[in-house]
Amino acid sequence: MNQVIELIQSHRSIRKYKDTPLTNEQVETIIQSAQMASSSNHMQAYSVIGVTDPNVKKRLAILAGNQVYVERCPLFLVWCADLHRLKVACSLQDTEMVAGTTENFIVATVDTALAAQNAAIAAESMGLGIVYIGGIRNNPKEVAKLLHLPELVYPVFGMCVGMPDHDPGQRPRLPLELIYHENRYDPEKAKKGIEEYDQMMRRYYLNRTHHSRDTTWSKEMAAIMRQPNRKHLRSFLEGQGFRLE
Ligand SMILES: Cc1cc2nc3c(=O)[nH]c(=O)nc-3n(C[C@H](O)[C@H](O)[C@H](O)COP(=O)(O)O)c2cc1C
Repeated sequence: MNQVIELIQSHRSIRKYKDTPLTNEQVETIIQSAQMASSSNHMQAYSVIGVTDPNVKKRLAILAGNQVYVERCPLFLVWCADLHRLKVACSLQDTEMVAGTTENFIVATVDTALAAQNAAIAAESMGLGIVYIGGIRNNPKEVAKLLHLPELVYPVFGMCVGMPDHDPGQRPRLPLELIYHENRYDPEKAKKGIEEYDQMMRRYYLNRTHHSRDTTWSKEMAAIMRQPNRKHLRSFLEGQGFRLE
């Protein structure tokens, strides 16, 4: 194994941080690394807002469902899909941009995620820890207002960044055979593989030091997937100019 693979495979989300602020050089390196991610047609359809203001972080922590680490981390990054800049580029070329397509929505969202994951790895390589925060989509309208997001920009997720102040164990992943299909998709292997994974995850949930309980992966997934979640997102996205046509 080389050092990059070792780093990637030692990932765990960090939810407790030391107070130490990041240096400007650290922030710059993280964002420059994000920028070098591949991007659909070189559109670079994302922006990121670095929040260090304690009042703004506090408000975001509440809006994200009272996730205290959003307030306590030294840097909270809000990763936004951004078609606004492309509209400006089109207007410089005296052209109207067609924004409201499902394709453009996917492109901007994927670009954002790829850049964010590059940032995550860069941060981890510097000894920092991160956790993604999808909770900012609980109240996206308020988040957009708080951060002055213009039309054609929406917050995809947040990311806490800081020096780790705990060492949580790693979460075991699905067996590789369930994720990786050779030459064609094999739907037959899901059931047996999940049953085996459930046993592994049951031991993990029982033995972990924090929030230990008797559950399995499929039980957790069923609780999430049996109801529609964040149903407000469609109208929010349409309000921001992301019509999925
Ligand atoms: C898009 C996205 C959103 C997430 N949102 C949250 C969140 O709101 N709060 C949280 O504590 N963890 C959040 N997570 C972290 C996941 O729970 C975590 O990555 C997953 O359980 C695997 O654990 P690990 O990262 O420690 O390996 C999110 C992860 C992703 C990729």
